[in-house]
Amino acid sequence: MALVSPEVLSGLARLVRGFAGLELPAWVVESKAGARMTALSLDGPGYLSLVESGRGASELGRLVEALRVGETRFFRHKGQLDAVLEVVAPRWREAGTQRPKVWSAGCATGEEPYTLAMVLARALPAPAYRASILATDVSEEALATASRRRYPAEALAHVPPPFLDSFVVSEGEAEVRREIAGAVRFERHNLASAPPGRGFHLVFCRNVLIYFEPEERRRALERIVDALAPGGALFLGYSETLRDVAGLAPVQVGAHTLWLRSGGEPPSSRDVPRDAPASVPRSLARPSAPVAAPRTSRTVRASAASALSRELSEALKSEGLEVLTVELDAAELLDDDAAVVLRRAGAAARASGVDLRLVAGREVTLRWLRRHGLGGGAP
Ligand SMILES: C[S@@+](CC[C@H](N)C(=O)[O-])C[C@H]1O[C@@H](n2cnc3c(N)ncnc32)[C@H](O)[C@@H]1O
Repeated sequence: MALVSPEVLSGLARLVRGFAGLELPAWVVESKAGARMTALSLDGPGYLSLVESGRGASELGRLVEALRVGETRFFRHKGQLDAVLEVVAPRWREAGTQRPKVWSAGCATGEEPYTLAMVLARALPAPAYRASILATDVSEEALATASRRRYPAEALAHVPPPFLDSFVVSEGEAEVRREIAGAVRFERHNLASAPPGRGFHLVFCRNVLIYFEPEERRRALERIVDALAPGGALFLGYSETLRDVAGLAPVQVGAHTLWLRSGGEPPSSRDVPRDAPASVPRSLARPSAPVAAPRTSRTVRASAASALSRELSEALKSEGLEVLTVELDAAELLDDDAAVVLRRAGAAARASGVDLRLVAGREVTLRWLRRHGLGGGAP
């Protein structure tokens, strides 16, 4: 592989940053650029002047293609998907938002926007609701893979059982069903440029801006916030913070902190947690936990593991409770965590003399219960 001088390296790094906002370690640039030089039989200065020249625009694109990190998977960061299911989608329902606009920015090979399509199709069923998801990335290669909708069957490893029917599996491949994929439109877009639309109710831009140079990140975030509708929600990756971003306000809803674009309908004081700013729209600021009333029997319809945990412990505190029924068919994200929650609730119920009944009718839920040894009534 060709040796790259510090001058050439810093020239290439500047071009990559200017084009896509990316700031990558010098050794990464050196190894990827070195490989391109070898492929083109060019030395360092020759390669730099090619990339700098008008003729080199496509080569700069190719270099960015080689440098970008495209790691992703279905149902990544499940806690955020819980928040979409438990807080964001119900608030859209409440506000009558029947055509929510979603942007998956930096969507890589499509797992993220398809996951959103699966989750939203359950939370907001057609024909009453129809979410449209714009999925963008700077990489043509990633978008081409995304548009094929086909993934190795191992990609299903992180998909919760109730969502497996969103795929057709054959010959070691899992294909996202057309009905699900229909909600997603792929488009090439560079986050270092103007946004591809406006008025988004939800933006996922996860694990993209961590690779950006700080000033480019700030500018990209400003543009993203601008593209949100007032009250629209923004999610970044787990290791990224939104604390320093103007125009966004944190709202604590149950276990979730949502970052919403300021502006829109002002909330009533009853709806807003004490530390939330006054400009948060009412539809997304209302605490979701219902107030428990004493009764002898209760039914919990879970939507996800974290909600299940909260609702069960709340229900088990009800005075004089004798029977607690858990309807599991409504649960969207039944995973290992949910099984642990149910086992713990079983132990707590036994200790307080409550009859915990698990109710399921869907084959996929029954299979999940059997797999976790929860099939025979109360755990
Ligand atoms: C690590 S992946 C994240 C995928 C997905 N959002 C997730 O969290 O699973 C980062 C993606 O950001 C894309 N990307 C990097 N720079 C970009 C830019 N300037 N504009 C748009 N996308 C970019 C990369 O091509 C890559 O596909």
